[in-house]
Amino acid sequence: MDQLQTLDATKERKIQFFLLRHQNHSIVKQSVECVVQSHTTLLDLLREHLHFTGVKEACGVGECGACTVIMNGQAVRACLILAFEIAGAEIMTVEGLSDGKHLHPIQQSFIQEDAVQCGYCIPGFLMAAYELYSRDPHPDPQAIWEAMSGHLCRCTGYQSIFHAIENAQNQAKPSNFSQKDME
Ligand code: FES
Ligand code: FES
Repeated sequence: MDQLQTLDATKERKIQFFLLRHQNHSIVKQSVECVVQSHTTLLDLLREHLHFTGVKEACGVGECGACTVIMNGQAVRACLILAFEIAGAEIMTVEGLSDGKHLHPIQQSFIQEDAVQCGYCIPGFLMAAYELYSRDPHPDPQAIWEAMSGHLCRCTGYQSIFHAIENAQNQAKPSNFSQKDME
């Protein structure tokens, strides 16, 4: 993102936030500073300016879940949040799930269950599942369906995605789902 010499407070704001990613069985934080326009969404900031293209844009109005990211431990829709609102926040995109060498257990489970076709909706489902497991290591079916609610898939079918999320708990130790080891 371009750094502006002089900021017009009504149009641009300088913000700082933290990007989280998995690394060596822990979660690391990277501080990011950038200047955003007052109308820039978190989705545009992540995709267009920071090139985290795993965050998908579909409906753009909060109805499909494709743009879901983790913000301060909560699954949120990046198209509904203005970039300046994330000042000081901790953000994880789907790029932060794997540690660079190994997929996260939730990602492995989606592959094992053949829960991916075009893949456009999948980052959103993955982040919703990640948030679910972060607060509930053994979710029951009702909790899984609730986490999936509001996420739309035009290809794979919700049953496969449900099984992928359900079976993710068999893929790894519960600690792999925890955010308690944040640095
Ligand atoms: S693109 Fe954000 S919810 Fe659809
Ligand atoms: S896998 Fe294509 S939209 Fe879900």
